Amino acid sequence: MNLYIGIDLGTSAVKLVLMRADGSIENIVSREYPIEFPQPGWSQQNPKDWYQQAMEGLQELLADCDRSLVKGISFGGQMHGLVILDEKDEVIRPALLWNDGRTYEECDYLNEEIGKETLSAYTGNISFTGFTAPKVLWVYHKEPDHFARIKKVMLPKDYLAYRMTGVHCTDASDASGMLLYDVKNRCWSKEMLEICHLREEQMAKVYEGYECVGTLLPQVAAELGLSEEVRVAAGAGDNAAAAVGTGTVGEGACNLSLGTSGTIFISSGQFKVDEYNALHAFAHADGRYHLMGCMLSAASCNKWWMEDILGTGDFAGEQKDITEEKLGENHVYFLPYLMGERSPHNDPKARGTFVGMTMDTSRADMTQAVLEGVAFALRDSLEVARKLGIPISRTRICGGGAKSALWKTMIANIMNLQVEVLEVEEGPGLGGAMLAAVACGEYDTVEQAAEQIVRVKEVVEPSPQLVEKYEARYQVFRQIYPALKPVYQVME
Ligand code: XUL
Repeated sequence: MNLYIGIDLGTSAVKLVLMRADGSIENIVSREYPIEFPQPGWSQQNPKDWYQQAMEGLQELLADCDRSLVKGISFGGQMHGLVILDEKDEVIRPALLWNDGRTYEECDYLNEEIGKETLSAYTGNISFTGFTAPKVLWVYHKEPDHFARIKKVMLPKDYLAYRMTGVHCTDASDASGMLLYDVKNRCWSKEMLEICHLREEQMAKVYEGYECVGTLLPQVAAELGLSEEVRVAAGAGDNAAAAVGTGTVGEGACNLSLGTSGTIFISSGQFKVDEYNALHAFAHADGRYHLMGCMLSAASCNKWWMEDILGTGDFAGEQKDITEEKLGENHVYFLPYLMGERSPHNDPKARGTFVGMTMDTSRADMTQAVLEGVAFALRDSLEVARKLGIPISRTRICGGGAKSALWKTMIANIMNLQVEVLEVEEGPGLGGAMLAAVACGEYDTVEQAAEQIVRVKEVVEPSPQLVEKYEARYQVFRQIYPALKPVYQVME
């Protein structure tokens, strides 16, 4: 049976998925790389680390398979990151990542001086610090020597595609997160390029995620022991790829991803925007559109709390004391804004905060508050979608955090959603492999691949009593950020 590779270029690691043509998994490999936080709120990575770890990981992924069966490769990549290449296609500076908040001045300039309405008319979106356009302006203002050397502006996964094929490409879903792309009309926005001092030839060619951009360069094929005929498809931003991998395609389907970031993704046949552009209006990898809310720290809050603060790697052990009767009863709240927050507050100065401790507060209460805080914050974005009149009663779920049964129960009850747990939870990696399979003609469309490959294995049902208890807690949670907002603005 033919084999397809999905490369999920994440923030902490690259995850490689080897999928058989029928969607079953042959092998999975993961390789980590460092992330630098040179100043509070800054975050960057070296694109060469991505490529090196992806190539080493591919060797391990393919070690025991018949490499002649591999027909296609594609990607799901961390979005919005700014990779700039010079005239020799060398990386000019470390990539500024999606959760980097250094661009708040540029972001204010875009939202206030160019104006949110104008930005929304040009692109379907307003500016958030993590988006690519304010990063371009930051380099323009703060590192003019680097700016002057830019030959190509790229997104993270597209750097891998470029190294593998020699083609400067991107896809519509990932291009959407740059604030340089006219999402509705699926083309670069001439106005935005001008505002950011860029020329169209500095941008990559935009494909649909399931389209083939080229084949492997001879030296890459030789290094991997693969045929030079192996096709590389454009792939998608990690959330659109995860949506493909969880079968979140077509009209009104929902997926939650609990990775470093936390996202709620709602697929849509038509282009839509909400009144305040609180949700992102992006292209989907199935050729259509989606709305998305993105919180900057989701599973990473739990990781921080467990590893950096409690000093333990035993995540399941720490959750053991959070028994069923404690759900909906916690008096401690946690605001999960460790990197500032994107959706829906758009506030790089927001900070992580515990509220409500008393002398009897336990370690388990605080762990519970962290998990609940992430679910409450995801609900903030769900409420925006509900206000748009989109009926959402069920969701799929993926990402590292989706492994915790407790967290899924909290989400089902805090958001009042049926949570569908999938047989294979490899969202972006699986989605990437599926896009490669479509590009190679294994499936006619992305929907067809999703229908045939994705299977629900269990549904976590919300319970009416718990939904009611959590509703009361959520009404308290949603008052905390507005109360603290003025304090965050004056904090260092
Ligand atoms: C989405 C976003 C994050 C990154 C994480 O807008 O910024 O989900 O894509 O990899």
